[in-house]
Amino acid sequence: MGVSTDSRAGGPAAERDELARHLEEARARTLRLLDPISDADQRAQHSPLMSPMVWDLAHVANYEELWLLRAIDGRQPVDTQLDDMYNAFEHPRTERPSLPLLEPAEARRYAADTRAGVLSLLSETDLASQRLTRDGFVYRMVVQHEHQHDETLLATRQLMLDRCPALVDPAPAPQPGSVPGSGEVLVPAGPFEMGTSTDAWAYDNERPAHIIELDDFCIDASPVTNEDYERFIAGGGYDDPAVWTEKGWKWRQEEGLEHPLFWRATSHGWERLRFGTWAPLDPREPVEHVCWYEADAFARWSGKRLPTEAEWEKAATWDDAACRKRLYPWGDEPHRPALANLGGVLDGPSPVGSHPEGISLSGCHQLIGDVWEWTSSDFGPYPGFEAYPYAEYSEVFWGGEYKVLRGGSWATHPTATRGTFRNWDYPIRRQIFAGFRCARSPEA
Ligand code: AVJ
Ligand code: FE
Repeated sequence: MGVSTDSRAGGPAAERDELARHLEEARARTLRLLDPISDADQRAQHSPLMSPMVWDLAHVANYEELWLLRAIDGRQPVDTQLDDMYNAFEHPRTERPSLPLLEPAEARRYAADTRAGVLSLLSETDLASQRLTRDGFVYRMVVQHEHQHDETLLATRQLMLDRCPALVDPAPAPQPGSVPGSGEVLVPAGPFEMGTSTDAWAYDNERPAHIIELDDFCIDASPVTNEDYERFIAGGGYDDPAVWTEKGWKWRQEEGLEHPLFWRATSHGWERLRFGTWAPLDPREPVEHVCWYEADAFARWSGKRLPTEAEWEKAATWDDAACRKRLYPWGDEPHRPALANLGGVLDGPSPVGSHPEGISLSGCHQLIGDVWEWTSSDFGPYPGFEAYPYAEYSEVFWGGEYKVLRGGSWATHPTATRGTFRNWDYPIRRQIFAGFRCARSPEA
């Protein structure tokens, strides 16, 4: 099942062409994001949370060298110093600006040379001959990795604040809210299949598929909007310790949190900064740039809670009548723009109700795309988890410090999210393109 079968039906050459196209699309996107940024700004650290952008580029190239040249073909390292400098675990983000990083032009050359080697090796690789390459797995991993860093580059650019060049060619915004998409839906109790054992795009943390039994739950038909969130602010949500967890309240006090990141109050209402430009807040858009603590407090303030990641995935993928799981809320067909706001085509989330074709069988809008959605769940392994092909993707992050986010944002590429995809971050983080929707357990 899944995308891998499409190209296999066309034979090994079609599968290799598909993988090469994905690699090229990711690289074109990376360079498009870097092109408007001066060399000095690519080298600079715009926030202690982020790497210099030129680190991301060379790291993406090094990851590709590691997995698509050395792991597959046993080649020797180009330069072991690069392995050290671009290993995320050797050097935390705060340290990266002081490393002797490749210059922007050198990083581009390294990325281009690596890619030339990869495309030539791919053209002669029998993908079926080893586990890493079967169904194109490791190529899909590398494609997603580059797109994940492209989303990180977008977050870094946003952190350049009013110095950020506008995103190039933003497409015309979609027609707002043809379907209101308000209220909540009831997902009836019963088992569903969580995770996947067959999707060649899936990371290790999405595996294996397993059955989970859930009680009835209600979940919001749409993400919480700016208008909803303004009510929370105006209603004193930031000043009521009763709606915050103890840690959340402490953080809110220490940091003086009073509104989402990139918002400011003006005499004519709230404005938000988006890629260099302040503009009035659109009340119909999903709220963005809130941390888990804020999302959790909003949910309690409204008499609800955040969904667990299992609830989110069941609402997004389960076909109760057919007793089977689908890849996306809209079914198994690949993404197209009408279905969800993905891929950085726009520069932010679309108003609630903008994607009626992407609605789930459970009746939820915009589960995929627009904003990552915080869940109540800690990031941990599924039963039967096996770290593959390396423990540092997921396994080293287990253990209660990280909260799971689902669904992907407007900045997430369609190949880097799906019904089973799991993202995670610290509950204090707000620079990611994250919002949330609420859930509740119906009264007995
Ligand atoms: C899955 C988004 C948490 O950016 O830290 C990139 C993705 N892993 N390179 C991150 C990732 C290795 C990861 N997240
Ligand atoms: Fe990485």
